[in-house]
Amino acid sequence: MTAIQLEFVEKVFNPGRPNEFAALKEVSLEVPEGSAIVIAGPSGSGKTTLLSVIGLMSRPTAGRIRILGKETTLLSERFRTLFRRHHIGFLFQQFNLIPDLTSLENLSLVLYPDAPSLSELHKKGMQLLARFGLKEKAHVRASILSGGEKQRLAMARALMADPEILLIDEPTANLDTKLSREIVEIFKQLHGEGKTLIITSHDPIIMESDLPEQVLRMRDGRLGK
Ligand SMILES: Nc1ncnc2c1ncn2[C@@H]1O[C@H](COP(=O)(O)OP(=O)(O)OP(=O)(O)O)[C@@H](O)[C@H]1O
Ligand SMILES: [Mg+2]
Repeated sequence: MTAIQLEFVEKVFNPGRPNEFAALKEVSLEVPEGSAIVIAGPSGSGKTTLLSVIGLMSRPTAGRIRILGKETTLLSERFRTLFRRHHIGFLFQQFNLIPDLTSLENLSLVLYPDAPSLSELHKKGMQLLARFGLKEKAHVRASILSGGEKQRLAMARALMADPEILLIDEPTANLDTKLSREIVEIFKQLHGEGKTLIITSHDPIIMESDLPEQVLRMRDGRLGK
């Protein structure tokens, strides 16, 4: 099955205003389920914007987006939120952790609105913290974690709902070489588990690893080879 299918997607910010800006232009893309692709491109070329429309965080101005076979552009905001929560995990460029909550609380929050029970949530959260070597940090505030630890916590959070699709924005931008290699290993494992990964990055450690099946390039809002 196709995990992600975009047809002529456009995203225009501030349409009709003097500061109108077309961040995505005629973007078409087809990502088979279980594949890993990297999207490279200069700053401002539209990479984060592309992930945000694929992840149903923002609506395209034109075009169609199909996720796991479901046409999403015409869905109500409520359905888009539900769909995203169950099928898509994000690793944001800025992590977006809540600094005053503990690691475990940051994880629990993801599923909170429709979680089975708090103890299930904590169990799942602790499993993921253990997987990413953060068990001892379960009850410390996220604000005191190191950069690499924040990165791994954000990865754990993206996996809380066990989503099929992971959208990952410049994961190694703030990491040294060793931590970057570690994160690539984590992505390879997830790929091996059948997840579909879309990663934006121009880091050679990622692009030249054996992780991506395809490297695509963005320039001025257009996606190409
Ligand atoms: N809400 C917005 N309103 C107006 N313009 C925006 C908005 N969000 C993004 N843009 C513009 O769209 C363009 C693409 O931004 P985007 O964040 O997608 O780039 P990027 O490729 O992720 O860059 P970077 O590598 O620096 O993260 C930029 O010129 C940005 O200023
Ligand atoms: Mg970006």
